Amino acid sequence: MAVTASLNIAEARQRARARLPRGLFEYIDRGAEDETGIATSKTALDSLVFKPRVLVDVSKRDATTRLFGVDQPMPLVVAPTAVAGLVWYDGEVELAKAAAAVGIPFCVSTQSITSVERIAGESGARLWFQLYVWRSRERTRELVRRAERAGAEALVLTVDTAVTPNREYNVRNGFGIPIKPSVRAGLDCLAHPRWFAGVFAKYLRNGGVPTYAHYPDEFRTALGRVAVGDEIGLAQDVGWGDVRSLRDAWKGKLILKGVLRADDAEKAAELGVDGIVVSNHGARNLDHAIHPVRCLTDIAERVGDRVTVLADSGVRRGSHVAGYLGLGAQGVLLGRAVLYGLATDGAAGAQAVLEMIRRELLTTMGFLGAPTVADIVGTVERPR
Ligand SMILES: Cc1cc2nc3c(=O)[nH]c(=O)nc-3n(C[C@H](O)[C@H](O)[C@H](O)COP(=O)(O)O)c2cc1C
Repeated sequence: MAVTASLNIAEARQRARARLPRGLFEYIDRGAEDETGIATSKTALDSLVFKPRVLVDVSKRDATTRLFGVDQPMPLVVAPTAVAGLVWYDGEVELAKAAAAVGIPFCVSTQSITSVERIAGESGARLWFQLYVWRSRERTRELVRRAERAGAEALVLTVDTAVTPNREYNVRNGFGIPIKPSVRAGLDCLAHPRWFAGVFAKYLRNGGVPTYAHYPDEFRTALGRVAVGDEIGLAQDVGWGDVRSLRDAWKGKLILKGVLRADDAEKAAELGVDGIVVSNHGARNLDHAIHPVRCLTDIAERVGDRVTVLADSGVRRGSHVAGYLGLGAQGVLLGRAVLYGLATDGAAGAQAVLEMIRRELLTTMGFLGAPTVADIVGTVERPR
């Protein structure tokens, strides 16, 4: 059912909030511990300062960007988000279709409900694959080979999640993976019947409670248990040696996601990594982590000549994208913003969000006197 289009991401968020069970909405929307990172993210992006150029012909504005040798109509990538498949039925396929419709890559999460093979087969999207390293490096290598066989162009190694984040609201609201039946979760579902009927009940009818699609079968069937098995617990000892091994094993583009320091970016460059995402994981992991707006330029100045620098965290407006691009990023990932769109209208909702951000970006570029994305450089004041 088509709904009146959201005017902005804040409206899309309100709709997602109404649609989703509280536990799931909070899992998507909130941060970690005292959530200072969420507040900092808003302040950092609200504090962006533009220095517009005037008297520039902006009658033809173009947001086309070349990322890793491929032209795409907008400088965006759909970020990897665990369990997007719970937000909408087949949510990962829907997100990938939205990305394909606007010509940008979709990054599949290790913790996706739908497998990379199915997403590749059903969406026609250009895929990147996000990797969490499991304790068993052999199992991890097998997962990487799966991503390669499915045609993923880039492997995105997430490096900012060495330990499990502390998200207390999810303890209180009962949301977690594995999904556990509880009175609270049951009431939450009943209070959100459109989601329950359109997503969860549909999964139950079509094969059962959703699980992590990339986990080996013998563990997937056991996802009802808390201990998913030592071998596929997330490794806490991931180091530069793993980056080296992945660089040797992976022929496509290799990207490190979650870099916040220029010295780490330098090491990545030395190891032949193709790209980095300057990200604080949307303020979901380490509370008080520095916001990308504050460290992006240092990092881009240090490695931008050798490595493609991307950024994410907190983007809710096209002007935020312009801010990141002006501070040195070549592309920007969107996490929650597209999930809000997905929650209300599947692929169409996610696509509407991507197009909205592009429209807003083009408007900002018009005011900045920046007919192309490259022209944005020099119009954003470096945060002090
Ligand atoms: C619900 C949710 C799940 C996420 N899951 C993953 C994940 O599995 N792997 C990963 O590298 N990042 C994950 N992220 C982080 C995003 O890739 C991205 O860095 C972040 O969402 C950017 O901030 P934004 O949501 O404010 O745009 C997740 C984010 C959200 C909101």
